[in-house]
Amino acid sequence: MKERIVLAYSGGLDTSVAIGWIGEATGAEVIAVAVDVGQGGESLETVRDRALGCGAVEAYVADARDEFANEYCMPTLQTGALYQNHYPLISAISRPVIVKHLVTAAKQFGATTVAHGCTGKGNDQVRFEVGIQTIGPELKCIAPVRDLALTRDKAIEYAEKNDLPIETTKNNPFSIDQNVWGRAVETGYLEDIWNAPTKDVYSYTDSPEFPPAPDEVTISFRQGIPVAIDGVAVTPLEAIEQMNRRAGAQGIGRIDIVEDRLVGIKSREIYEAPGPMALMEAHKHLENITLEREQARFKATVSQRWSELVYDGQWFSPLKRSLDTFVADTQRHVNGDIRMVMHGGRAVVEGRRSETGLYRFDLATYDTGDTFDQSSARGFIDIFGLSAKVATERDERVAEGK
Ligand code: ARG
Repeated sequence: MKERIVLAYSGGLDTSVAIGWIGEATGAEVIAVAVDVGQGGESLETVRDRALGCGAVEAYVADARDEFANEYCMPTLQTGALYQNHYPLISAISRPVIVKHLVTAAKQFGATTVAHGCTGKGNDQVRFEVGIQTIGPELKCIAPVRDLALTRDKAIEYAEKNDLPIETTKNNPFSIDQNVWGRAVETGYLEDIWNAPTKDVYSYTDSPEFPPAPDEVTISFRQGIPVAIDGVAVTPLEAIEQMNRRAGAQGIGRIDIVEDRLVGIKSREIYEAPGPMALMEAHKHLENITLEREQARFKATVSQRWSELVYDGQWFSPLKRSLDTFVADTQRHVNGDIRMVMHGGRAVVEGRRSETGLYRFDLATYDTGDTFDQSSARGFIDIFGLSAKVATERDERVAEGK
């Protein structure tokens, strides 16, 4: 029996050519695996037909949108994860869900190897292969662009020579990766980091410069998960999609950064994540009233570390799993409603309420109803400042040579 290879298939030119390219280079049969994480565009049926038309012996397609929203986007929201304080991990969290389906497909079709279309310069090759190694250690990995010299020019030439059912003429200057959690755009003139992004870069957001009327929204959370918008129940996927539309219309969630790739390269990327950025803002403000102070401070450290692990392809690692447990525990009382106004690129929280909150009017008020005993503050301050005071006295003594 011939060896079998499962290929992470997008339906685009490079992975369409990769089907035949891998077959010719290795003698193996190729099974195309297409996973819908809300990237839009063509239907899974169209993608399946193209894979078979390009020579795949089987095609495995999966609508993983709810799975992606529930198990990947929601933990990212609950963690408040932003790599380098800006990037909501759009591509980084989609790789592990694709990895899961690749491993499932490999088992189902008896494949020994997993192939993907990444280059040798990015983070995604690491995310795919570290993920595969961790949850399918018996599988080998191969990347035709990196390992079998499949360049863009050769792909076009191959598709034309073999009459593959894929367009080779469409010349998009950008490399784009998108899903329901957002969109990432790089290359082309964006590689000159002094250049401003032009209008054609964006698709999930309208320009914040000419916004429509302000949009007031109330988001209800249960354990850190959005469960209703304006009083109407929603699933996580529906919450993200609805907020993508509404926040996107206001130009919210445009991000332009030069980031540190795992492989040591600094690279410029434009992101759009209107729904996620608006949801994260609301969630953060709900945590402000529901998390205890020390827990909230420590969670900021956990969030940063979690973001780095996920960016670096460690989704299935033990440390990431342990941090998930911490974050889940912090979310136990993150229940309530956040009201915010979205307008001109910003989502501004204006109201909050929670049955499980820690905000106490009787402690906070300067009006009648105050129950806080101010006399205890003096002794507290004496002790709180004591060690610094003792040190100052020592410094003075040393300076005076005593
Ligand atoms: N830099 C992002 C990351 O490593 C996105 C990678 C894919 N970007 C793209 N435009 N194809 O997570």
